[in-house]
Amino acid sequence: MIFNTFQLNERRVKNRTVVAPMSRVSTALDGIPTKAMFDYYETFARGGFGIIITEGLYTDTVASQSYPNQPGIVTKEQTAAWATLTPKIKAHGTLFIAQLMHGGGISQHVQHTLAPSAIQPLGKKMSAYGGGDGAFPLPKEMTIADIEAVVITHAASAKRAVQAGFDGIEIHAANGYLLDQFLTDYTNQRLDAYGQNKFRIIAEIIAAIKEVVPENFIIGLRLSEGKVNNLKHRFPGGIKDAKAILEEAKTAAPSYIHISGEGGSWEGTGFYETGESFTGLAKQITGKPVIANGGLHDVNIAKRALEEGHADLISLAKGALANPDWPLKVHREETITAYERWMSKPIVASGPQ
Ligand SMILES: Cc1cc2nc3c(=O)[nH]c(=O)nc-3n(C[C@H](O)[C@H](O)[C@H](O)COP(=O)(O)O)c2cc1C
Repeated sequence: MIFNTFQLNERRVKNRTVVAPMSRVSTALDGIPTKAMFDYYETFARGGFGIIITEGLYTDTVASQSYPNQPGIVTKEQTAAWATLTPKIKAHGTLFIAQLMHGGGISQHVQHTLAPSAIQPLGKKMSAYGGGDGAFPLPKEMTIADIEAVVITHAASAKRAVQAGFDGIEIHAANGYLLDQFLTDYTNQRLDAYGQNKFRIIAEIIAAIKEVVPENFIIGLRLSEGKVNNLKHRFPGGIKDAKAILEEAKTAAPSYIHISGEGGSWEGTGFYETGESFTGLAKQITGKPVIANGGLHDVNIAKRALEEGHADLISLAKGALANPDWPLKVHREETITAYERWMSKPIVASGPQ
């Protein structure tokens, strides 16, 4: 089933394999993707993946940037650089999706961070991503104008993604970043409409994006239980919370749902006491295509996720770094290489410059 084709918003996906978004903090501080990053992304296309999702791209120059060397999709120069890469990826018959990311209270780049509420973020900065280490600064509670600006800048970034030739965008509402901070009780203590309905900002972003992109442009939504600054976090209400978020997602109607396995794994932590999976529930409740993630470089687990109907597609992060040609290897029944930490170091140009 891994090699069956799939339809996503009238676009053909050549198989069920996806490269998960991975921040690689590899630009020269200008947010413009480099030639070495182009080669990196093209390696996955050459390796047979059906879809590649970029690392999280920042969406405004106010407070969205999470890491110093993160790429963006804000300036003309950034958009133009992505536009030279997209045809190279598509030439391999691979779909290319830009992940839109706002760091919120856990930005490691912005001095004056913004978050739903002025609450000290848990955890510490990840030193490998730049911006120092130690505690995050105390964020400022976002005003309604700040929230409206985030909605507008996500839509503007999606429009630039269309101009750059991407097949779609993925809204990063997972792993503890801004939109996940809105979804989470302990980071969103607002008493206004954005606190009463924690999904509201995401619904507004999806609606605003739909206004400015062509109809068959893909609008994905990434959700998770774990957070980079609280890996063990699980929904306090368990399956009830999962269902409530997915009901909201159904109404907002993105093109697909991508459940991140950050801090856990699809098979190990993605199930509830009823035996139902978060991904399977996402399929049932939203009726949309679902991407499962977390430890799915293990071929048997990947097959289980697809064959038992828990997901339509599977995404690999660390497994793809270790095996940029994972689909080809699986097809040829070759051994899968184990991930090692050095593989996620920033991308530097190799060979003659
Ligand atoms: C180096 C690295 C960078 C990551 N950056 C992002 C990111 O920019 N956006 C995101 O949604 N998830 C990010 N993740 C999380 C992965 O997409 C994925 O959810 C997680 O690694 C679990 O999948 P895996 O078991 O296949 O590695 C990152 C993971 C790694 C290893």
